[in-house]
Amino acid sequence: MHHFDATTEEMIELCFDYATARLRMDPVPLDQPQTLAELEAAVGSTIGPSGHSPATVMGWFQDVLAPACISADSPAFLSFIPVAPTKASQLFDVVVSSSAICASDWLEAAGAVYAENQALRWIADLAGLPAEAGGVFVSGGSAGNLSALVTARSAASEARERPHRWRVALADQAHSSLTNTLRIMDVDTLIVPTGPDDRLTGSALRAALETDPDADAVFAVVATAGTTNSGTVDDLAGVADVAHERGVWAHVDGAYGLAGLAAPSIAAKYSGIDRVDSFVVDPHKWLFAPFDCAALLYRDPEIARHAHAQIAPYLDPIRATEVWNPADYAYHLTRRARGLPFWFSLAVHGTDAYRDAVEETLAITRDAAARIAAAPHLELVRDPELTVVLWRRLGWAAKQYHEWSHQMLRDQRAFVMPTTFHGETVLRAVYLHPDCPPAITDDIVESLR
Ligand SMILES: Cc1ncc(COP(=O)(O)O)c(C=O)c1O
Repeated sequence: MHHFDATTEEMIELCFDYATARLRMDPVPLDQPQTLAELEAAVGSTIGPSGHSPATVMGWFQDVLAPACISADSPAFLSFIPVAPTKASQLFDVVVSSSAICASDWLEAAGAVYAENQALRWIADLAGLPAEAGGVFVSGGSAGNLSALVTARSAASEARERPHRWRVALADQAHSSLTNTLRIMDVDTLIVPTGPDDRLTGSALRAALETDPDADAVFAVVATAGTTNSGTVDDLAGVADVAHERGVWAHVDGAYGLAGLAAPSIAAKYSGIDRVDSFVVDPHKWLFAPFDCAALLYRDPEIARHAHAQIAPYLDPIRATEVWNPADYAYHLTRRARGLPFWFSLAVHGTDAYRDAVEETLAITRDAAARIAAAPHLELVRDPELTVVLWRRLGWAAKQYHEWSHQMLRDQRAFVMPTTFHGETVLRAVYLHPDCPPAITDDIVESLR
């Protein structure tokens, strides 16, 4: 490709130097966004007919654009859902990027699919799914939830008469990606209320299904294993019981919290997960993989294949050699072998190291909660169930929380954002980094005086 080759050697050096330096940073800088005006002033327009030298463009990235992105792998990144990829997984992401694997089907990517499926099997085994279970790595929890519920509706459409409008039962605490999914699918909701503990229970689900006049239109129920706002794990066993009684699909959104299955100290919280029809867990959240990597698993993948497999004349050859075509288990076709970085790290470190790292983050969270609880000016909202800590600063209103949060980021001390919990503005920190030192929490506690 002579149009593009002249600077390849220079770029290999530039990009690998950057990657090597970034991978060796310990810890990485937190960094922070810039305004549009600041970015325009610093780099202006970057793309023109004749291009720029690789060094110039890398300079823009290294000096301006990269520092204008918050590092989600910084131990001081405690907002939203952080990420703490192992070096092994990040390094192997470079390997995947240097390859050209279209991991849609066995014909094109047998080796990659073989390895990805072993990583999926580890997760299926943690959950106690049967040998025939399987799935695919998709881009995120949103993509996984959508693909699973499309599968569930397809199964229901074949099994029973179509109602006027299909519905899905989900808790008032379910993640926004589910509301979005149902909007995309043009499906209505049956919202099941949760109690003061935010937990969806089998009995609340049963009551909702028994009293709603249009409950027969419900084809699936979604439980959450680790709500994003508070880390609450629903009553998966109770939900699975009711789903089986009513003949509806049970899906678990464990995008954040189902990784806790790897930790023996809390595995019992997920009792019932072995009886659901599908679930999602994102290794790019609490299983130490880089973005974007979400595992979608089905108890009976044949049902998913029926719903998703794409048929086209030019795709016939992949059907002739199929052993396992990942494209068949979600709404996509072309896909990056995004499970490989996770697989490489699992294969190198072994699953015990994952167990220990998840346990470590739970211990860090308990320690952080204790430090917060011990401060007279602060009050825990509740004891953390997984790795989300919610607390209030006594006497503060929403404005003060937001100002404090912005100042902490400006000062590069920590990235902690307020949330709303039961109508009250409080602070929320998610501890997913196994190397988050207590000093970060101590500094947060001190800064809130
Ligand atoms: C419980 C839950 N479900 C779904 C999602 C969406 O996952 P993703 O952002 O990977 O699409 C998230 C993301 O934070 C989540 O916490």
